[in-house]
Amino acid sequence: MAISRKGFSSRLGFVAAAAGSAVGLGNIWKFPYETAQNGGGAFLLLYLICVVLIGFPVMMGEISLGRATQTNPVGAYRKAAGPKWSWVGLIGVIGGMMILSFYNVVAGWAFGYFIEISFGSLLSEPDHGAFFGAYVANITDNLIFSMVFMVLTAVVVLRGIQGGIESASKLLMPLLFLILIGLIIYALTLPNAMAGISYYLLPDFSKIQLSTINSAMGQAFFSLSLGMGALITYGSYIPKDDNVTASASIVTLADTAVAFLAGLLMLPLVFSSGEPPEASGPGLVFTILPGIFHAMGPLVGRIVGGAFFLLLSVAALTSTISLLEVPVSYLVDDRKVGRKPAVIGIASIIFIIGLPSMLSFGAVDWLSDITYGGASHSFLDLINDVFSEVGLPLGGLIMSLLIVHRWGTNRMREELTNGNPAYPGSRVERFVRFTLTYISPVLLGFIFISNLMEKFFGISVF
Ligand code: PHE
Repeated sequence: MAISRKGFSSRLGFVAAAAGSAVGLGNIWKFPYETAQNGGGAFLLLYLICVVLIGFPVMMGEISLGRATQTNPVGAYRKAAGPKWSWVGLIGVIGGMMILSFYNVVAGWAFGYFIEISFGSLLSEPDHGAFFGAYVANITDNLIFSMVFMVLTAVVVLRGIQGGIESASKLLMPLLFLILIGLIIYALTLPNAMAGISYYLLPDFSKIQLSTINSAMGQAFFSLSLGMGALITYGSYIPKDDNVTASASIVTLADTAVAFLAGLLMLPLVFSSGEPPEASGPGLVFTILPGIFHAMGPLVGRIVGGAFFLLLSVAALTSTISLLEVPVSYLVDDRKVGRKPAVIGIASIIFIIGLPSMLSFGAVDWLSDITYGGASHSFLDLINDVFSEVGLPLGGLIMSLLIVHRWGTNRMREELTNGNPAYPGSRVERFVRFTLTYISPVLLGFIFISNLMEKFFGISVF
């Protein structure tokens, strides 16, 4: 096989790992509550449009840049656009570390809930909302579970591409699909489930506002793991004779399918619980679901509830792996650090950077109540707003400009022709070239500016 660095053993290996990176808390935890909050079907439709118009083209750009340059984001920008652009890659590396620092905290909650439901008495708590509030403010549990999660992530990344990331994803991704489908079948039998389905599938266009479009675009981008170089890094491990177009299409489809299925699970549950969908928020899976699992009876509830939070943890793990691999590959490729010290060093630093986010849900008052953009936020919100809501669209914008204007769509075409001789002149090529040149940068610029103004200055610009 024509590979110049040790990477994925097969196309399936890359697809499983990249889909693993894409499918995560974004799909199962965030997408359903954003959909419920933002009007259901109309949000879903906008989300799908954004996946096609920004997500897929930018993904093709990221992966081909990675495979062409065979290196981490910093080296990739240096090689493709010139040495004065390597800082763009460095911002991605730092952004990835910051995203992982808080993502790991939420992953720790999911993992903690898996343990508490399967082996503890969480389900019989009288008030699940109050329990969640106390849970996230509890320092000991948070410390233990997010540390366990970071260690799991580090162990997989330490084992490298084939033995770690690829084998873990090949096992975990199908498991995730299975658990999700099983739960949906159950959810559809609950009273009032069909009201949830119509809210989810029948778009009500009067619900579309500019902020809805904004959230849908941001969500599509975050969910596909774009904008910080995760897919440049994974792309650098793809064999040269692989068909990148086919792989990128499968990854996009798998990610969208899991988000769609998570909505299909959660919206019937929200309607069946009687809570108004607009009132949903980040606590959705942690407060509504336990009540439903409790109603299933002590044994079934434990099994199904445990399975759900295990699923959420699994999805989060394949994403945290990709977030950690980005800075690690930078140190290994560019700074000639050994894989082991790189993984241990970076994972420890990220864990420490994550501590203030962990303590920002009531454990420490001043971290839990930071005012900006005219509202009170947690420290975790602040890091999320800076590095994912504003940082990722900016990263994606600069990347699409550099690909089109410095690296050039002709080089991108050359790279995508490896493993897919029919690429030049194909309909996919024409679509990707057009959207990446004219549509994606404009939409990304739009999300960047409007998120910046809205989040930090409380101004709605559009
Ligand atoms: N796509 C992941 C999710 O949906 C999050 C992520 C973002 C992972 C950026 C890597 C890079 O949860």
